[in-house]
Amino acid sequence: MTASDVTGKHIVITGGASGIGAETVTLLAQRKANVFFGDRNQKDGLALADSLKEKGLSASFFVVDVTDVESVSAFYKQATKTFGKIDVGLNNAGVDHDPARMLDVPDEDYHRNIAVNLTGVWLCMKQLLAHMVENNNGHIINLASIAGTSGAPMISAYSAAKHGVIGLTKSVAIEYARSNIRVNAVCPSFVQTPMVDHVMSGLNDRQRASLVNANPMKRLGKPEEIASAIAWLCSDESSFMTGHSVVLDGGLTA
Ligand SMILES: NC(=O)c1ccc[n+]([C@@H]2O[C@H](COP(=O)([O-])OP(=O)(O)OC[C@H]3O[C@@H](n4cnc5c(N)ncnc54)[C@H](O)[C@@H]3O)[C@@H](O)[C@H]2O)c1
Repeated sequence: MTASDVTGKHIVITGGASGIGAETVTLLAQRKANVFFGDRNQKDGLALADSLKEKGLSASFFVVDVTDVESVSAFYKQATKTFGKIDVGLNNAGVDHDPARMLDVPDEDYHRNIAVNLTGVWLCMKQLLAHMVENNNGHIINLASIAGTSGAPMISAYSAAKHGVIGLTKSVAIEYARSNIRVNAVCPSFVQTPMVDHVMSGLNDRQRASLVNANPMKRLGKPEEIASAIAWLCSDESSFMTGHSVVLDGGLTA
């Protein structure tokens, strides 16, 4: 079986220091893409970039806070300086909040989820679109979630932000299809990453077991399973897909 070909593509990723982002940075670099990735976590970002470079792979790290318009602008400026042309932008940076019914979710958690998970994607998409319109070419991939396609009790603020990401993905895909720019989303269910470790740590054994057993496959997703799907999206094999989502959920929403 041959892997999706991303050789030589210039791919810019946010939230690349951990979890799905780090796995995707690694896989794309292994498949000979040129990866420029950012995160607000400088320590882990630099450590990942160094470990990839030691293996002779191409990946550069730059600190970014996706909620800060100036930081986002500096990030894409540096990416463009490094690459010249950006082929694919993956908007992956995200946060969650402690599981609770709405009345028990602090407003602060709501604002943080909207700022990172929705406004962050908006700001990054604007930078990417401006660049891609000039080149009359490009592909934007947004990390949404199945919490963005159906109700997600106990994580309402996260779910609201992810529904917003799906709305942006669909609307902007239609707006820019004639400019040869595609916009798609990826919607995983629970995947074994530090984000989900955090959610799990707030649950008791029975709740943890029922979360896993609710999935028809009776397991969580693996970061590499999400990264593989993203690699396919990054390749030209996905060329007729725009305005839609790849759902990776073990059959949970089937
Ligand atoms: N893990 C899951 O079960 C799951 C399921 C569906 C969707 N997702 C989405 O996938 C994406 C990656 O999640 P993950 O599970 O790998 O989480 P993670 O916590 O392991 O990684 C998220 C990364 O985003 C970075 N980040 C957070 N806020 C940032 C900011 N303001 N600016 C720049 N970087 C920032 C973090 O530092 C971290 O490195 C998120 O958008 C998440 O919502 C995850």
